[in-house]
Amino acid sequence: MDHPGQTELWKAQTLDELIQILHRLFSGDKVNVAEVQTLMETYESNPEEWLKYAQFDQFRYTRNLVDKGNGKFNLMILCWGEGHGSSIHDHTDSHCFMKMLQGNLKETLFEWPGKKGTGELLKKSERVLKENQCAYINDCIGLHRVENPSHTETAVSLHLYSPPFESCYTFDQRTGHKQKVKMTFYSQFGERTPYATSVSQENN
Ligand code: SIN
Repeated sequence: MDHPGQTELWKAQTLDELIQILHRLFSGDKVNVAEVQTLMETYESNPEEWLKYAQFDQFRYTRNLVDKGNGKFNLMILCWGEGHGSSIHDHTDSHCFMKMLQGNLKETLFEWPGKKGTGELLKKSERVLKENQCAYINDCIGLHRVENPSHTETAVSLHLYSPPFESCYTFDQRTGHKQKVKMTFYSQFGERTPYATSVSQENN
């Protein structure tokens, strides 16, 4: 498909098509946030297309790599069991797009800690993201925590990070203290990551 030059004209009919268009949108040096967010919203979640990436763990949310975006982005599917959530974290100066594929997730936004890097983190807002919605965050907007608020339903989300990153900071809500953590993949391209490389000191 040629670049139509207008945000509204992009429509991804399938996950494969979405990935193909994302490759084009990220081929240059600039990222048009509104364009990517709109595109990701146009994809109507079809579980048949993403089921092989949706690998759950009993105890924590999982990160499952779908595409490496020619080095420009990482696209991954996150699987959230009932009540699973992430720690409050930053995004390592990257763009973060988060699209719901199934279920709902609660996103809570926090201010960065004050100048001293300590003190309780101030909560800015919270919202519940519903199927097919796509949220966006970066470090200028703040920190966030994501949780599956349901005790009966799982949730699945599609995340795009650009540029890709392998570590971030997590924050203690009460003290504001931060800790650097490594991000790992539970599976890559549908294949379970060998245990030794997927053990997480993460975020979840
Ligand atoms: C999140 O935004 O809460 C997920 C963080 C991650 O990529 O593990």
